Amino acid sequence: MMSRMGTRGRILAVAAALVVAGTGLAFADGAASADHRQAEMKKMGGAMKRLSQSAKGEQPFGPETVAAAEAIQAVGHEIPALFKDNEPAPKSRAKPEVWSDAGKFAAAAKAFSDTTPALVAAAGGTDAAALGAALGASGKACGACHDAFRSKDQ
Ligand code: HEC
Repeated sequence: MMSRMGTRGRILAVAAALVVAGTGLAFADGAASADHRQAEMKKMGGAMKRLSQSAKGEQPFGPETVAAAEAIQAVGHEIPALFKDNEPAPKSRAKPEVWSDAGKFAAAAKAFSDTTPALVAAAGGTDAAALGAALGASGKACGACHDAFRSKDQ
């Protein structure tokens, strides 16, 4: 009997510790996931810049342009997962609407992803004007989501 009570006590203590640890983890995860999505967004920004250099004739087409477009496409597909956690993250500029208006956010992510096959195709060619047009379409979709879901503070 004594040992059973003891076990139960220990289980409760462990459970309580897990709850506390879980709270700490949630916060750490929130900051980590905000950092991660910001890093992924930055990666897209860099890749868009690289592609615009080719669209302007400043850099050649080749494996680098294909890799840049594919990186943008991959992050596009990742966006729903990047924003899955709505945890406190002091540095995040994501508006609460990302989660409170999740359907609209998902639609904005899809609208963006829908532009990336044309971007990948143009990046694999040599037609600067075609790449410029594809970049325009993708860039517009980046901006549409930012207008609705990224705060201007900071
Ligand atoms: C479906 C919505 C959505 C799409 C599409 C999108 N973004 Fe973002 N982006 C966001 C949100 C929301 C943030 C703010 C994230 C945060 O601070 O937690 C952000 C942040 C950023 C940042 C700032 C990162 C930082 O260091 O704080 C850059 C740069 C960026 N996006 C570039 C792009 C580019 C380039 C594209 C298109 C190629 C793009 N984004 C497409 C929603 C989107």
